[in-house]
Amino acid sequence: MKKIIAVDGPAGAGKSTVSKIVAAKLGYTYIDTGAMYRAVALKSSRSCEDLIMLIDDIEIELDDRARVFLDGVEVTKEIRTPEISKLASDVSKFGFVRKKLTELQRKMAERGSVIMDGRDIGTQVLPNADLKIFLTASLNERARRRFEELQMKGQEVDFDAIKKEIALRDKQDTEREIAPLKKAEDAILIDSTNLTIDEVAGKILTLCSTD
Ligand code: DC
Repeated sequence: MKKIIAVDGPAGAGKSTVSKIVAAKLGYTYIDTGAMYRAVALKSSRSCEDLIMLIDDIEIELDDRARVFLDGVEVTKEIRTPEISKLASDVSKFGFVRKKLTELQRKMAERGSVIMDGRDIGTQVLPNADLKIFLTASLNERARRRFEELQMKGQEVDFDAIKKEIALRDKQDTEREIAPLKKAEDAILIDSTNLTIDEVAGKILTLCSTD
């Protein structure tokens, strides 16, 4: 059984939904590294302190119910706004931010039996992961899923604006100099454009149990 699983891919590909299902089925810990970049973004949006100072003593915790705590206070909902999505992508380009979060993420993975998702998990954070997945889907499909998700939450949403926001984040995340989003050479590519969440989770679970 694969003990350390890395899942990378662009925004809206279904990484967190699928990773949560796999974690629950295997009894593994799910680590959402995007939530950690979002927590840094939220802290910087609330402070006039320099990012470099602010990151120094930041405390970020993720619990087993996917709740996110920033300096001891729950921020699970606050980090999910479009503004914080954009700001998380902005702050993630800085080497000192990535270094700090990479250290924290490696520590979190030390216990094993983890599935960690993000942009650079297979390439940088856990290059020795037992299984690496690169999960993607077409831009249109990713925008459609995000649109439906927000609509279900009762938010007023504009499909074209969502598509633009995702395209911009794709560009920033793949073109940044340090640890850009890219498929690790040994990662298995799954295109979820025409697959259901359960089909993707099923594929990953099969890969987890094969040697
Ligand atoms: O997965 P997400 O949409 O919650 O991530 C928010 C942003 O954080 C994403 O646009 C880029 C950044 N990020 C990153 O640079 N590296 C990671 N491992 C995870 C997220």
